[in-house]
Amino acid sequence: MSWFSIVFFIGAMFGACTAQLCPTFYATSCPNVSSIVRDVVRQARQSDARLGAKIIRVHFHDCFVNGCDGSVLLDDADGIQTERSAIPNQSLSGLDVVDNIKTALESVCPGVVSCADILALASEILVSLDGGPTWEVQLGRRDSRTANLAGTSAIPLANDGAHTFGKAQCVTFRNRLYNFDGNGNPDPTIDATYLQTLRQNCPQNSGNSTRSDLDPTTPNGFDNNYFMNLQNNRGLLQSDQELFSTSGADTVAIVNGFAGSQTQFFDTFGDSMIKMGNIRTLTGTNGEIRINCRRIN
Ligand code: HEM
Ligand SMILES: *[C@@H]1O[C@H](CO)[C@@H](O)[C@H](O)[C@H]1NC(C)=O
Ligand SMILES: *[C@@H]1O[C@H](CO)[C@@H](O)[C@H](O)[C@H]1NC(C)=O
Ligand SMILES: *[C@@H]1O[C@H](CO)[C@@H](O)[C@H](O)[C@H]1NC(C)=O
Repeated sequence: MSWFSIVFFIGAMFGACTAQLCPTFYATSCPNVSSIVRDVVRQARQSDARLGAKIIRVHFHDCFVNGCDGSVLLDDADGIQTERSAIPNQSLSGLDVVDNIKTALESVCPGVVSCADILALASEILVSLDGGPTWEVQLGRRDSRTANLAGTSAIPLANDGAHTFGKAQCVTFRNRLYNFDGNGNPDPTIDATYLQTLRQNCPQNSGNSTRSDLDPTTPNGFDNNYFMNLQNNRGLLQSDQELFSTSGADTVAIVNGFAGSQTQFFDTFGDSMIKMGNIRTLTGTNGEIRINCRRIN
């Protein structure tokens, strides 16, 4: 017997799901969880083509502050300072749909499915509805009883790219268009035609919250066009374009690989999402299953 099978066997004996995440966590407690989430998001997506982008971003901001524990969903309350008042929240949205998913689940399996798991499940379902990959969503996260506003400063300022769909506000990239070097010049890595288009939608002195597509080629589709855009100097955020334009960076080969192979991008993306979803989760008897994602029980 290999080490792997011994560990696997012991894990199975004691129920591998109790101390770590697993895909079948709700198999007996809420067997229909995926189709319930799917129904709500499919409906909501009909009137909001950007829903997938909104929800996966909420999941990312949840996982990068105190781990994937639903903390980002908490509203201000006694003893709770919402994480969404931090500058990097930059207009997180889609929370109304998370509320609707929670309501649907509470009516079928009350007190069972965590808000943190809702974000992980809804992200996967929406990415695949938008044309992206599927992956095996790990489940069993529990929700925090605290928020960590100060921890939002840990949201990284480098970038690894789910920016194949969704939008960014003018204020997040304006300096690239008008005054990148402090002398009134634009970022030299922006394609000249793209620069003109962006300037029309993001004037120098107004329109902070006007949004532009992160992927101007296929704005709502989850695909590898984003990487081809970078090769053509059409990345919207500085942190995106740097992946390709920083000479000598390891990321240049990654961009070229993903631009050349959507399959390679999809496989890697699915693996990354599973890793991201594993960041410091609460399991077992830690935390709680919130009844309302916006407040602790
Ligand atoms: C790691 C560094 C990252 C940085 C610096 C970054 C930065 C940004 C910024 C500035 C925006 C625009 C926000 C706005 O103006 O409303 C944005 C949007 C977005 N980000 Fe990121 N991001 C990062 C990582 C990620 C990751 C890991 C994901 C997903 C797994 C992600 C998914 C998205 C999506 C989908 C949008 C569009 C949201 C919408 O349409 O409302 N980002 N990001
Ligand atoms: C599971 O949910 C779907 C969609 O809401 C529904 O069509 C189906 O009947 C449900 N199945 C069970 C066993 O509840
Ligand atoms: C994000 O923070 C800003 C203040 O920085 C606040 O006005 C906005 O309502 C917050 N967004 C959400 C979704 O809570
Ligand atoms: C737009 O954003 C800039 C940079 O954050 C800020 O200095 C300015 O006050 C904002 N303008 C408005 C009208 O909110």
